[in-house]
Amino acid sequence: MNQIDYLRISLIDKCNFRCQYCMPEEAELDYLLSQELLTNQEITTLLKNIFIPLGFTKFRLTGGEPLLRPGLVDLVKEIADLPQTQDLSMTTNGFLLAKQAKALYDAGLNRLNISLDSLNPETFDRIIGNRGRSRWQQTWQGIQTAYQVGFNPLKLNVVVIPGVNETEILDLAALTIERNWHVRFIEFMPIGNPELFGDRAWIDSAELRTQIGNRYGLESGAVTGNGPADVFQIPGAKGTLGFISQMSECFCDRCNRVRLSADGWLRPCLLNETGQIDLKTALRNRISDREIRQQVQQLLHLKSEINFKQRDSGTNKGIYTRTMSQIGG
Ligand code: GTP
Ligand code: 5AD
Ligand code: SF4
Repeated sequence: MNQIDYLRISLIDKCNFRCQYCMPEEAELDYLLSQELLTNQEITTLLKNIFIPLGFTKFRLTGGEPLLRPGLVDLVKEIADLPQTQDLSMTTNGFLLAKQAKALYDAGLNRLNISLDSLNPETFDRIIGNRGRSRWQQTWQGIQTAYQVGFNPLKLNVVVIPGVNETEILDLAALTIERNWHVRFIEFMPIGNPELFGDRAWIDSAELRTQIGNRYGLESGAVTGNGPADVFQIPGAKGTLGFISQMSECFCDRCNRVRLSADGWLRPCLLNETGQIDLKTALRNRISDREIRQQVQQLLHLKSEINFKQRDSGTNKGIYTRTMSQIGG
């Protein structure tokens, strides 16, 4: 069995964007009430008493949009200061980053992954469901600021949406030539809203690699991080290109993570919630740490079974009731 030592912690289910592939405007979402969220103290208690004793050392903060979470910088500092924390990262849409990047860096956040699906402000606004003043410029500024305050290398996540941003692949890949950025192309996943997405609405990473290879050449690159990306590089480029191919390949056999939702459910897999545990209720009911650890351990044992046997690779037939924004991506 793989060592499972990476916990993705969702801090909030709300977001200031409504990306088509994550929480489309058409979807009616019920947001969590603030008392339903795990508090900062509950999160750090779970890390100290449950996850760290079980060998977890890598933590990623996600959302919704984690920069909307009150008390975020304090939480980052508390987690970064735990002696067992080897890697503390965050995935964000970057819109509020220009103001917060420095404080997060100073608090001890190691790495940032920022979504950027288009270099074209109109396409960008269409993807994020924005009808007001364009939000591209402020997001781009957030990325620049993050890089300048020290998040280096920086990762940019591009969800490739057929017919929407696929014509920009070469331009997005070219960002890595002069900058030490890692641009990762993610196969669009029809999670949560299959009726909106149809049957085969993604472009295989292999197709993108051919396009980029034909234009710039492509060689294998050095991996940074804990995720499922296959890493390549344009020869001579300062940055790298990653391909996250959850639809065309199954990387479950190298999966090293579990996910904690903002309301405290621990799930074994992005695409499968079988066996999930309600850690918030366990904490609030004062169940002993030992008993909670046993339950989590059981979930970790179950995980390898779940990945392979109950997930139908390459289709959207996972076992889940939550959208991406409610799981934490
Ligand atoms: P690092 O490599 O450590 O930087 O992290 P990461 O790539 O795992 O983190 P990020 O939040 O940027 O995730 C990028 C995308 O990878 C997610 O949006 C998912 O599409 C995909 N992904 C991450 N983890 C899983 C997983 O466990 N299963 C599947 N199917 N996809 C995942
Ligand atoms: N398919 C692929 N990636 C997705 N993300 C959100 N929803 C989807 C989806 N349906 C990505 C975001 C972000 C990360 C946390 O998840 O772009 O980078
Ligand atoms: Fe918000 Fe991220 Fe979902 Fe887009 S992908 S709606 S930015 S949580």
